[in-house]
Amino acid sequence: MSTIFFDSTISDDVRREHLYNGHLFVFSPCPSAIALCDLAREMAEEAFAPLDPREAQHSLPVEDFVAILAKLKPAFIHHPKSKQLIQGILQESGCDLNKTYFDVPRLRTATSDGYLSSGIAYAFHPHRDTWYSAPQCQINWWLPVYEITSENGMAFHPRYWSQPVKNGSRDYNYAQWNKESRKNAAKHIKTDTRKQPHPEEPLELDPQLRLVTKVGGMILFSGAQMHSTVPNTSGYTRFSIDFRTVHFDDAMAQRGAPNIDSACTGTSLGDFLRGSDFCSIQESLVTFYDNKSFTDVPTSQKIAIPH
Ligand SMILES: [Fe+2]
Repeated sequence: MSTIFFDSTISDDVRREHLYNGHLFVFSPCPSAIALCDLAREMAEEAFAPLDPREAQHSLPVEDFVAILAKLKPAFIHHPKSKQLIQGILQESGCDLNKTYFDVPRLRTATSDGYLSSGIAYAFHPHRDTWYSAPQCQINWWLPVYEITSENGMAFHPRYWSQPVKNGSRDYNYAQWNKESRKNAAKHIKTDTRKQPHPEEPLELDPQLRLVTKVGGMILFSGAQMHSTVPNTSGYTRFSIDFRTVHFDDAMAQRGAPNIDSACTGTSLGDFLRGSDFCSIQESLVTFYDNKSFTDVPTSQKIAIPH
């Protein structure tokens, strides 16, 4: 059973507890989220000018489209305003900036009708972020940059909150992935040969849940939540922003969602920056998580992976 909380005013401590139990939160756009979407739209519109970024896929050769995204996406991630606006979002959402760490916001695109579904516009198959070395206490924040519909958003697969799935996370190590693959994403235009942790058994994707918010409306969910990119049949490229947070005390205490099927190694914690001053999370914590493995998960939280 999961609950969707709309514009909840409960404290961040209680909210995180609910997220670790598989519940979802949806928020109306706050001023900093609107400003972050404005920034993304301005940058996208400049990059695709004179075309509308949502429709550019219909008039550009796929290689040109990829070349534009290959510049636009890192420019957005590293724009000095991006970090400040995330700080604003966290503050406006009741997070303690001294304890909440975030990673830089990503600008994502999902093109329509299979125009481009690999490499830089990777269409995410059903997955948990925790298969990709995310800590169990990771919280994902997702917001659309333009209006979305049910046909070009994202989907949750709630039955898998408590049901383990056989998956390829055992072969995934964060540091190794970064070293070998990420810088080459723009080269993977038509097919993607990078090794991703996929489900290794058929999933029942229905019933699935799709949440449609206004521009800048935010969906918060645990990194352990099974989610996927909706096959886009809307006719428009979807632009969205996502970023992740971890609360320092939870990371220290190894609190978070139960790990029911992830066996990856390494950690993404080294990417996280403190909300108050953008300092990196402390090295000893990253090292601790780096050396942790699935066998360290308390047995009370672990369910055998079916074969
Ligand atoms: Fe994800």
